[in-house]
Amino acid sequence: FQPPFPPYDPTDKSGFSYETVVKRWPVILAGIVDQLHRENHELHIRTIPVYDSARTQHNFDPSEAKIAEGKTIIEKVSKLKYEMARDHVMEPIPDDGEPHVDFYNTELEELSKSSRNTWFKAPWLYAECYLYRLLHSYFVQTTHWKYYDPFHAQKLDVFTKSGTSIYGIATVMHELESEKSELKTDLTKLKVFFQEMIQMCLWGNATDLSLLTHMSLVDIEQLQSVGKDMQAARKEYIMRDDQEKAWEHLVTIKAGRVDFVLDNAGFELFTDLVFADFLVTYTPYVSKVVFHPKLIPWFVSDVTPPDFDETIESLLDALFLSTTTSPPPSTEQQQHLQKLAERLRRYVSEGVFSLSVPSETLLGGGGSSTKPLADFWTTPVPYWNMDTYDRELWEFLKESDLVIFKGDLNYRKLTGDIKWPSWTPFDEALGPLAGSFPILSLRTNKADVAVGLDKEVLNKTEEKDAKWRVNGKFALISFLDKKQD
Ligand code: F6P
Ligand code: MG
Repeated sequence: FQPPFPPYDPTDKSGFSYETVVKRWPVILAGIVDQLHRENHELHIRTIPVYDSARTQHNFDPSEAKIAEGKTIIEKVSKLKYEMARDHVMEPIPDDGEPHVDFYNTELEELSKSSRNTWFKAPWLYAECYLYRLLHSYFVQTTHWKYYDPFHAQKLDVFTKSGTSIYGIATVMHELESEKSELKTDLTKLKVFFQEMIQMCLWGNATDLSLLTHMSLVDIEQLQSVGKDMQAARKEYIMRDDQEKAWEHLVTIKAGRVDFVLDNAGFELFTDLVFADFLVTYTPYVSKVVFHPKLIPWFVSDVTPPDFDETIESLLDALFLSTTTSPPPSTEQQQHLQKLAERLRRYVSEGVFSLSVPSETLLGGGGSSTKPLADFWTTPVPYWNMDTYDRELWEFLKESDLVIFKGDLNYRKLTGDIKWPSWTPFDEALGPLAGSFPILSLRTNKADVAVGLDKEVLNKTEEKDAKWRVNGKFALISFLDKKQD
């Protein structure tokens, strides 16, 4: 599929991609270096020298080797940061035995033909995915840092600060319990709760650590807060609102399957799990939910399989959030969360909730741009090419009754990160993906691309806040059924 407009890239200095290359990526890379320094320091002070009878020092501690490897990674990341700032050529991804090496490198070669294989000229979507894949190669080629997630500490830290909102939501879910039998017959009421859930899940996407480079935690906390008043206040920030269409579609499903193409770990994942819980526990429409994570550390805060397990484990741990929440939660609130977390765990163990992870045999099998790729979600491929690049995944999603794409990056990939005029119909921007399966995209705006907007809404928003495309305060709820828009 050839879209009629080019993709966003940093050659346009007024765009968010330029700001990203100049300001945001360097901060993210510096964060990795800091994190590794901290880890190495910890290892260093734990390394106790061993002396033989002649008082000759021998260091038998295996962490020495780890420290040395850590230093090598620090050097590589620092070099990358230096080269990025000077618009150097993007080096090929080393053959690290992991998926997508050939694919990324073939694209890079293509870009070199038009001299766009440098940090300030490459298409933003490609360059950003390449960046996280390249970083992965630095870790995976070592012995001691193979499975290390340099963003894990940060993800966990912000999660521990989301206690107030999480206890609030757990109490809402507890109150829902008393309405359960009524909800079975009162569709109007069920719809009201559905709307609350969809909005909670939408604004959950505001917690994105790659944006923390220009948003304060206080801003984020405000965006996380739940409750009807807050939601009413935020309604005017939803520039396209297909909640009604999504609801009309949902009620046609009978005990079906919903897929979540996940975005961020921590609070956002919690809201995804709660939305999924609502659909399964309180509606007759859904009986199974499949979650799609990323297999490598991705865009700072994205969910990996260990994050998924850890989130549920942390919610079950009575001390995890209660000790970091201020004011501390009441006993009732703690019980509400405990009950919710136990239900989530039960759904996972019973297979009602499952995590979609490509099988071992698929891993490492990627490479050629004509063959299906393992873990499609960590390629830069626009979703309109999903059927060509990962037929198996496309066929799998075609069996779903609703595929929910969370967050900004998924939105960029759904629309190819193309400079579409913002009034381009959503289905047109989806290209050939439109109609493959019912799509619901819940996205807070953190990148320039936006489609399916009413011209009047566009003008009004432009007047209100010129940064509406990127500051994470505005959002889009876009739905497309199998039918055309
Ligand atoms: O770095 C840019 C970006 O891709 C933006 O689109 C967005 O700010 C972020 O990274 C990812 O956002 P999300 O977690 O919502 O996909
Ligand atoms: Mg993300």
